[in-house]
Amino acid sequence: MIRPRPALLCLLVPLLLAGCAPQGGDAARVAKLEKEVAELRAHVEHERTEAAGKPAAADEAAGPELGAQMLELQIRHARLWQAGAARNWILAQFQLAELRETVSGIVETNGDHAALQPQRLADVMPAMLDPALGAMQAAVDGHDGAAFDAAYDQLSQACTGCHAAADHGFLVIQRPITPVLDNLRAEPTPAP
Ligand code: HEC
Repeated sequence: MIRPRPALLCLLVPLLLAGCAPQGGDAARVAKLEKEVAELRAHVEHERTEAAGKPAAADEAAGPELGAQMLELQIRHARLWQAGAARNWILAQFQLAELRETVSGIVETNGDHAALQPQRLADVMPAMLDPALGAMQAAVDGHDGAAFDAAYDQLSQACTGCHAAADHGFLVIQRPITPVLDNLRAEPTPAP
């Protein structure tokens, strides 16, 4: 085994250091680039989580809130009453169609809502409402006031029935006493 003499070491060390110098420069550059990449990654990650936290993006992913959809359904239900109570059949026809559209929208966008699990809202909602909606359609088509009143109570009971099934039995739906908004005339327009 060759034991390098101190004199040789004195010669070798500066040579080695000189030899390492360019490599050391590369290493420093790589380290700098690595640091920049890490910073960019952190920045991108931050932007992504911030975007995910924005309400619009979150809502899009989760779908519309059932409570808000029910609020719309409540208004449609109330408006249908005003039209039918005034025996304004063309307006009742319109309000019933709007109410049905709202129901379809809920089924489409919230069909798997947690409130009715393990049952599917997409199955329960039509099953509970369809008989009443059918009776209501017949009453409106037939311009039958007494049938309208009966179908309306049947519909309200179906609403309440589902609330009970979803542990929300305290949400009792009834005939409205006063209109929600009174700037939409319920009375039929007299013929000119
Ligand atoms: C498929 C079952 C189902 C049917 C049918 C149903 N609802 Fe609901 N409704 C719910 C559930 C579940 C909630 C509670 C939502 C929540 O947790 O925000 C609710 C909540 C409501 C609320 C309270 C909304 C709020 O946030 O203030 C109203 C009002 C309402 N429903 C009206 C109606 C009316 C009117 C009908 C009938 C035309 C109806 N619902 C039919 C399941 C149903």
